[in-house]
Amino acid sequence: MRQRILVARAVFPALIDRLASRFEVESNQADRIFSADELVEKMRDKDALLTTASERISAREMSASPQLKAICNIAVGYNNIDVDAATHAGIMVTNTPDVLNETTADFAWALLMATARRVTESERWLRAGNWQKWRYDAFLGADVHGSTLGIIGMGRIGQAIARRSLGFNMRVIYHNRSRLSAQREHEANQARYVDRDALLRTADHVVLALPYSTESHHTIGAAELAQMKPSATLVNIARGGIVDDVALIAALRDNRLAAAGLDVFENEPALHPDFLRLSNVVLTPHIASASEPTRRAMADCAADNLIAALTGVTPPNLLNPEVKRKK
Ligand code: GLV
Repeated sequence: MRQRILVARAVFPALIDRLASRFEVESNQADRIFSADELVEKMRDKDALLTTASERISAREMSASPQLKAICNIAVGYNNIDVDAATHAGIMVTNTPDVLNETTADFAWALLMATARRVTESERWLRAGNWQKWRYDAFLGADVHGSTLGIIGMGRIGQAIARRSLGFNMRVIYHNRSRLSAQREHEANQARYVDRDALLRTADHVVLALPYSTESHHTIGAAELAQMKPSATLVNIARGGIVDDVALIAALRDNRLAAAGLDVFENEPALHPDFLRLSNVVLTPHIASASEPTRRAMADCAADNLIAALTGVTPPNLLNPEVKRKK
């Protein structure tokens, strides 16, 4: 009998065709969001799942799927999956690293530029028919060139963001769990390792590029925002929950922080309604990796992982290699 897989969300049709040539596929091209119970029900008889960062897969869901061998996320982040529980249950977990580094770094810059130079705010004003005359002080923003860029989370995406700052003649400071090698710091526009407090106090623009975990929950809260320059901008292309959204809203409202550019939110897509009332925030719907080639590459990467997992080959992006040793 052919192995069964669940593709939990709508994907490029070519991906379904590729998987259907090997497996019995239950797809969801209507892109309905399954309730937790529906997901458990659909997972029950499956050998593998293709998921996105929106599906929460915990020990409960896994325990209801006795034959599940692999959960393959179409995302580099995998905080939606309880990897320890998967390892315990003998289930492989994979993600899609690297293929999105450059596209995501491009988008961090798009948000940084839009935020510092008030692009979306001024466009809204123009579209509303307000533009009657040029003014010397209209939409004065912050300079990006020549400023200090602070990057928290200096993995592959953080380094790609830093490399782009060379052309803007910026100083780069970073904080990370571990310091990069001298060679990597050099390649990342001579990035200088500093502690988090120094970064928050010094940077003109702070970009968050770290993975979400219980340790990184609310990395930026009221205390951290208070350390930042009132003229600074904050960009989050990482995950909701790394920033305390309520604290950020208060800081933006009181102009204790100049502006923020956010692609991710706590409880997304149900973002805090007060964000919509603020003019000094650029809001995008979790699209940092959303160029056509990159989204296709992510889907292919997840399918490569899934096919490997179900054909007895170690998946290229296996996150819990202990699971293979256990079996
Ligand atoms: C997107 O958020 C990803 O983790 O790839």
